[in-house]
Amino acid sequence: LVFSLAALALSGCSGDPSLNVLEPSGTAGEKQLNLIMWSFFLMLGVFAVVITIFVYVLIRFRKRKGQDRMPEQTHGSTLLEIVWTVIPIVLLGILAVPTVNYTFELADAKPDEDSIRVKVTGHQYWWEFEYPDLGVKTAQELYIPVGKKVHLEIHGKDVLHSFWVPALGGKTDVIPGRVNTMWLDAKKPGKYQGKCAELCGAGHALMDFVVYAKEPAEFDKWVAQMKQPAKVATAAQKEGEQLFLQNCMGCHAGVNPKLQGPDLSKFGTRTTIAGILPHTEENLKKWLKNPEAVKPGAKMPKIDYLTQEELDALTEYLMSRK
Ligand code: CUA
Repeated sequence: LVFSLAALALSGCSGDPSLNVLEPSGTAGEKQLNLIMWSFFLMLGVFAVVITIFVYVLIRFRKRKGQDRMPEQTHGSTLLEIVWTVIPIVLLGILAVPTVNYTFELADAKPDEDSIRVKVTGHQYWWEFEYPDLGVKTAQELYIPVGKKVHLEIHGKDVLHSFWVPALGGKTDVIPGRVNTMWLDAKKPGKYQGKCAELCGAGHALMDFVVYAKEPAEFDKWVAQMKQPAKVATAAQKEGEQLFLQNCMGCHAGVNPKLQGPDLSKFGTRTTIAGILPHTEENLKKWLKNPEAVKPGAKMPKIDYLTQEELDALTEYLMSRK
């Protein structure tokens, strides 16, 4: 009992309400909740019937005082066997209809004129988001307009991952060499936490991302901002830019596709460092100096050889990319 209660307490706690599948904020999430409820109440009905029969049999056929003979034993009943074979078949049929329906509805990723297309790529241990129709590329943070269908084309770079935004939809497997599709929408503006839902290595638990659902006008503003190149304003930023070109470009500007890191051209607009830490200069320095300590298994090398002044300049440069 103590163990069960402890497990229940642990599983029930959630610091972030947007991680709750039971409070969906989008169509796909609602459909998935319908399925959960549908199967839950169906099984609750089965449970109630089985327990009722069980308790009835326990009481009705219990050993009574003065009864010392073995009761009459019976074997085999064609009627009963037919009944308990047919009932599960019917129940599975009832479950299968909405499951198959939703599966096809949610996998149907034919974008219409009004929808947004996003190419999602799962990497160890970060997410890349590309908007092919808008000419925008970013990482760790997926911006979507409220009320519009967002069609996701899900690619994998290295190992299996799974794309999951509990309040909006998923999970959809990320499989290298295969393109999976899904769609989701957000019914109200907000911040929705996303997770990698497939064990993919040491950094799996920290392979988080955020979905920001914005009003369409604000989303358009975000797109415009993303397309505007950031300026290099101060001397420190200029020095930082040089350091960036010398130390970071190889992975962060697509020079070496095998060592690809997130696109950082709009790093200053992010709200997280590496998808998990608050977006502060202090955290950025912590990450640069020892990525492995922040996210185990991260492929980002240590940038611990810079002087304090150089580290400050690089940080200032990255934070100014807005
Ligand atoms: Cu990626 Cu778990």
